[in-house]
Amino acid sequence: MPLCECFLAAGITAALALVIGLWLFLDKRRRFWEDRNFPCTGRALMLFGDYKQASRTEHMQETNRRLYQEFKARGVPIGGTIFYVVRTVIVIDPELIKAIMVKDFANFHSRGLYHNPEVDPLSGSLFFLEGQAWRQLRAKLTPTFTSGKMKMMFETILGVADELGDYFREKTSDRSVEMEMKDVMSAFTVDVIGTCAFGIDCNSLRDGNNEIREVSRKIFKQSPLHMMWVIFLNMFRGLAKTLKLKETPADLEKFYMDLVRNTVEYREKNKVQRNDFMNLLIQLKNSENPEERVTMNEITAQAFLFFVAGFESSSTTMVHCLFELAMNQDIQEKLRAEIKRVCGDGKLTYETASSVEYLNMVIDETLRKYPVADLIMRTAANDYKIEGSDLTIPEKTLVLIPTYAIHHDEEYYPEPERFDPERFNATNRANRHPYVYLPFGEGPRNCIGMRFGQMQTRVGLITVLRKFRVVPGPNTPARLEVDPKSGLAVPKGGVLLQVERN
Ligand code: HEM
Ligand SMILES: *[C@@H]1O[C@H](CO)[C@@H](O)[C@H](O)[C@H]1NC(C)=O
Repeated sequence: MPLCECFLAAGITAALALVIGLWLFLDKRRRFWEDRNFPCTGRALMLFGDYKQASRTEHMQETNRRLYQEFKARGVPIGGTIFYVVRTVIVIDPELIKAIMVKDFANFHSRGLYHNPEVDPLSGSLFFLEGQAWRQLRAKLTPTFTSGKMKMMFETILGVADELGDYFREKTSDRSVEMEMKDVMSAFTVDVIGTCAFGIDCNSLRDGNNEIREVSRKIFKQSPLHMMWVIFLNMFRGLAKTLKLKETPADLEKFYMDLVRNTVEYREKNKVQRNDFMNLLIQLKNSENPEERVTMNEITAQAFLFFVAGFESSSTTMVHCLFELAMNQDIQEKLRAEIKRVCGDGKLTYETASSVEYLNMVIDETLRKYPVADLIMRTAANDYKIEGSDLTIPEKTLVLIPTYAIHHDEEYYPEPERFDPERFNATNRANRHPYVYLPFGEGPRNCIGMRFGQMQTRVGLITVLRKFRVVPGPNTPARLEVDPKSGLAVPKGGVLLQVERN
């Protein structure tokens, strides 16, 4: 046989072996739950399994909702699926959710996400770490988020809120105008977190294309190739770690490393003290107490995380809220009256901003109907026997708590598509299982920035609603659809509302 034919035959054999090997590997994964008699969908799961539509035609929150409803109808506390190729369970029973998030947290301390701070410093943030490394860092950072510290930063937020108010006033000088709420509210939160996390005045309301805004847009709009890279790293975490692979794109890393280094050096040289996160992080870096101390890379990773976790979640919540208020004028009138009654016309304080009870109910209902973080992740460290059932969650299984599906479960929230803040009055709240409301997660690993997120959301909404009314305009969508391409549950397309001064 001539040499080249020989090579060809060998090539074809190798390709065939690869395809068959891959097929067997996937087939074994796909049969995992069936083989164990664990409740599962049992469909022929092709390459992407139950998540075939996710990220293409529908957002993952819809996929999880369908799976949740299917398992719930069967009366099981939990169901098995394969998330792309990762072995996964979806939790249905609120008591089991509580056990996983609180009582048996020790077995579920990890989200199971790839990180490798040695070669990729920005991946060494609280969100990604696990075990002892997570525990120590969480303890160091917790004092940064107490209500005392929130009060301290309140003035800084008010400064940005004044600019937001001015902007609305100018735009509406002599008439009602149509405004793109996504642009305005994200400019507001980029500026708030920009000053609080990095101590820089971004001025995004005036200059929509400043560098930090450009870079921040890119964080959530990664190329499909990069998304595949991230999925790959998470699928083969052990291999990725051995090969020292990086998840963060190089330009993003350079931007934030330089930004934080320059800020820290400037402040240390000029002895600048400010009421913000950066100040608190620098104090930790220079702490006398080794238990408290953090490194420069750790500071950078946390500041970056606060920025990523903090701006779009809050701005999107305000957009959702203003949209519902435009669609429900009676609720908006009641809320505006309450804000005027409690806050008056003078300067806003931390106490008054926090004590508009009806505003808190409206925000709670907004996050119920539109939880921007639509699911919570944990990974089982060891096998976990479920109390009162003969089911066991095997070690290393990804545990998904489908927040969006739970928030839209008719058993807990009748007519889930209706926007009704009364769901969060004292009576209704007391009559509901507390673990069927999870916009900020629960337990030792819940959202560390919850108070800050709530505070900037309240201040932003009060600033707008004190002096302005929002109504649907000619280009306002009838309902908001979620963007299937976005990780966070954000609206697809624009959210134009008509704004009137009054
Ligand atoms: C409306 C605004 C926000 C929402 C809805 C939100 C939601 C969440 C959720 C659901 C989690 C996961 C919790 C869990 O797994 O149990 C989380 C984690 C986290 N959030 Fe937020 N968040 C918001 C604002 C913020 C802000 C403003 C910051 C920082 C300044 C922040 C920083 C974090 C951090 C650091 C974590 C990881 C905590 C850990 O793993 O120990 N978030 N957030
Ligand atoms: C809460 O709302 C329900 C209607 O959903 C109403 O019947 C009840 O009186 C309200 N309770 C309070 C304390 O406002």
